Amino acid sequence: MPLKSLYNYYEHAETLPTHGDFKDRADLIDYEEHRKDLFLHKLSLHPRFFKDAELFEIGPDTGEKTMVYALWGANCHVVEPNRRAHPVLQDYFKRFELDSRLKSLDALDLKQYASSGKDTGRYDVAVAEGFIYTVRPARMWMEMFARILKDDGLLILFHCDKYGGFIELFYKLIHQRIMGLTGMDSLAAAEAVFQSKWDSIPHTRSFKAWVFDVLEDPFVRYAYFYDPVWLCRAMNTHGFRLYSAWPTYDDKSHVCWFKRPIPPEEMLAHQVDTIRRNRLSHMFGRKHTMVHQDKDVERRLKRLLLVSDSLIDTFDTERAEECLELMRWLKQLLENREMDAAPADTERAVSAMGSLIRILEFLQAGQASEAIAFCSENKAFIETWGMPSHFAIFHKPGANAACQS
Ligand SMILES: C[S@@+](CC[C@H](N)C(=O)[O-])C[C@H]1O[C@@H](n2cnc3c(N)ncnc32)[C@H](O)[C@@H]1O
Repeated sequence: MPLKSLYNYYEHAETLPTHGDFKDRADLIDYEEHRKDLFLHKLSLHPRFFKDAELFEIGPDTGEKTMVYALWGANCHVVEPNRRAHPVLQDYFKRFELDSRLKSLDALDLKQYASSGKDTGRYDVAVAEGFIYTVRPARMWMEMFARILKDDGLLILFHCDKYGGFIELFYKLIHQRIMGLTGMDSLAAAEAVFQSKWDSIPHTRSFKAWVFDVLEDPFVRYAYFYDPVWLCRAMNTHGFRLYSAWPTYDDKSHVCWFKRPIPPEEMLAHQVDTIRRNRLSHMFGRKHTMVHQDKDVERRLKRLLLVSDSLIDTFDTERAEECLELMRWLKQLLENREMDAAPADTERAVSAMGSLIRILEFLQAGQASEAIAFCSENKAFIETWGMPSHFAIFHKPGANAACQS
């Protein structure tokens, strides 16, 4: 039976998807340092914004991030549909002496909460990290957040980007094909291909949780990922304005007289241009900014994503050939096109494409053990993760706002 929502998928899982298993305060403080850096330096939001803020969070899982908002002084109103996460979250708040900041914890999904019609104009800040792109129709959550936020409230989203998701789609393609060729089960195939890659960087979750959350998750697919161009436009239609994003969607080099209010449609045009020129930056997780938008490049990149995605379901050799052609074209584009990119980053992206091409050639030829050995040893493959996850903070301007920023 097809899954209705991401939380149905987690309900039957052995593990909780993002459980960090914090043992003591040092673990929490380490994590808080990382979140502080993210908010202060990448999202331009000072943690002091959260002091005594009424904060609504939906889908926190075990609540590591919620605890950080509580540490920063937020009153947390939490909705998490997966009841198995509740005791862990409650125990965390108790152990770290934050329970006075946990104002409520309800077991509802977004659709149930949205249709309750509760909490109009109640919150200073709302948070939905790691699942919102799986909820359909998007209009439902956009209208809900527009309703429950106060004027000048902020909405913090963590979503999956279509172009940034390329590398993850490719992992899924490799994983499926290796299972098909060798008969290995999912975890054994994942360990054979990805264990060296996984061990090369530190993580807060287990390898098994990553396999479940990325390689096996039916929602980690092109059809669910958002295009930030679409997201910014749709949010504008619902009355929101982009506050900040990581990677940035704003043209930081734009200059105009500080007293001139920038109309929302002009800001949106800058954001769309910045996003479109950074498709490759998002794909490779480093700066590869094109000087101009290029419709043909975007059309071919989109085709590459779609073909890679379709190979996850069925490994068809003709499709694999089309995928290889597009990958060779992309490698050449990186080598030849003038871009705002450090030479070392270009070299890394070119090597990454070279390694993905080699892997797909092995898979196309049915050479599973060669593909496994290559994935375990190839430096470029081991070092490339892409940028699947994007942060975006949206501002709900007041009804009488003169300058909607
Ligand atoms: C990948 S986890 C992210 C957890 C946490 N927000 C984070 O970023 O670390 C996704 C969470 O969203 C919840 N979730 C999934 N679908 C949901 C829905 N339709 N409504 C509300 N929560 C949902 C899941 O139960 C899970 O706790």
